[in-house]
Amino acid sequence: MAAGAVVGAWMLVLSLGGTVTGDQNITARIGKPLVLNCKGAPKKPPQQLEWKLNTGRTEAWKVLSPQGDPWDSVARVLPNGSLLLPAVGIQDEGTFRCRATSRSGKETKSNYRVRVYQIPGKPEIVDPASELMAGVPNKVGTCVSEGGYPAGTLNWLLDGKTLIPDGKGVSVKEETKRHPKTGLFTLHSELMVTPARGGALHPTFSCSFTPGLPRRRALHTAPIQLRVWNAVPLKEVQLVVEPEGGAVAPGGTVTLTCETPAQPPPQIHWIKDGRPLPLPPGPMLLLPEVGPEDQGTYSCVATHPSHGPQESRAVSVSIIETGEEGTTAGSVEGPGLETLALTLGILGGLGTVALLIGVIVWHRRRQRKGQERKVPENQEEEEEERAELNQPEEPEAAESSTGGP
Ligand SMILES: *[C@@H]1O[C@H](CO)[C@@H](O)[C@H](O)[C@H]1NC(C)=O
Ligand SMILES: *[C@@H]1O[C@H](CO)[C@@H](O)[C@H](O)[C@H]1NC(C)=O
Repeated sequence: MAAGAVVGAWMLVLSLGGTVTGDQNITARIGKPLVLNCKGAPKKPPQQLEWKLNTGRTEAWKVLSPQGDPWDSVARVLPNGSLLLPAVGIQDEGTFRCRATSRSGKETKSNYRVRVYQIPGKPEIVDPASELMAGVPNKVGTCVSEGGYPAGTLNWLLDGKTLIPDGKGVSVKEETKRHPKTGLFTLHSELMVTPARGGALHPTFSCSFTPGLPRRRALHTAPIQLRVWNAVPLKEVQLVVEPEGGAVAPGGTVTLTCETPAQPPPQIHWIKDGRPLPLPPGPMLLLPEVGPEDQGTYSCVATHPSHGPQESRAVSVSIIETGEEGTTAGSVEGPGLETLALTLGILGGLGTVALLIGVIVWHRRRQRKGQERKVPENQEEEEEERAELNQPEEPEAAESSTGGP
């Protein structure tokens, strides 16, 4: 057990006349016993040997001999001349030296540089994302390693390859804390990535802990596989109002369309004058028979499970006071339908499934009497246009008919 805790790095043996010096780097696990052998010492007393140590616990060199008392519970010389530290701590890092004289009078020096380590718990990814949005920075999760010594480092891997933070597509926020009592380290590493649009759809992330001492095994988290949504960022929530400008005659129709080409389609809620409208979520809000109560500012809010809500710009809906009855109302209803068709076209083109959610109609005023508005002006205009177009044809036809025979 004790011997297992002692891992010799390499040994430099200098032969200088009668003196042999063994120089060795030792790593020892915190809390475990450590035995350092005094080279060249007789296996049994009487022995001529002396241990000297300079560690985090000593102010200068501390001397221990086989005849002397043990140093509290920190260290003592064993009958065979070796030095035993029953439970190594961070304070025991330092230099240990032994000078022994064999029965034949040959002097041997041992020199150890002791470093200690603690293996942290298995690293874990806390708060992992459930999915990522391409083209925008996403938090993947925070990798945590607890209780290690020395600090070591955390690395993120994407599909088994180390991710190198470049401050753009990949960025990492690290934090190192030290436990005030045990002196052990807790590392946090928060990974942000911006998946490329059209890149891998199911990337696998994992995190590994690399110990601060060489020749120690790395520790790995369980991998997490995420789904990448290739979509326009939710930031681009567009509110389109028809007719443009949002001004209609009384009784006209206003169509508000919230365009969020994000996938999966977010939930769209509507806000009027800063207050949510008591309506089921939907991407299109239809205001038929617009009255004074409908005037105000409207905006839409898109909510996506992995993002915060995003609000569109606000548009105002107002009524044009005409004074004349039925002068412009009719002209509004035509465009209203055109708008609907146009909007359907836009949504269809974007390939969103937003329309599945349907159109919602904000129609509070059940008691309001639907005033029938005719469309005389429109028809008149159309007839006039047709008449103008036909005019040049008539004289031609007249000429050909008269000039023929
Ligand atoms: C011991 O480790 C130190 C630092 O890690 C290194 O500079 C030195 O060369 C090593 N010495 C031996 C004898 O291994
Ligand atoms: C001295 O004794 C200890 C404990 O029994 C043992 O671990 C160590 O290897 C011994 N040293 C030598 C040089 O035999």
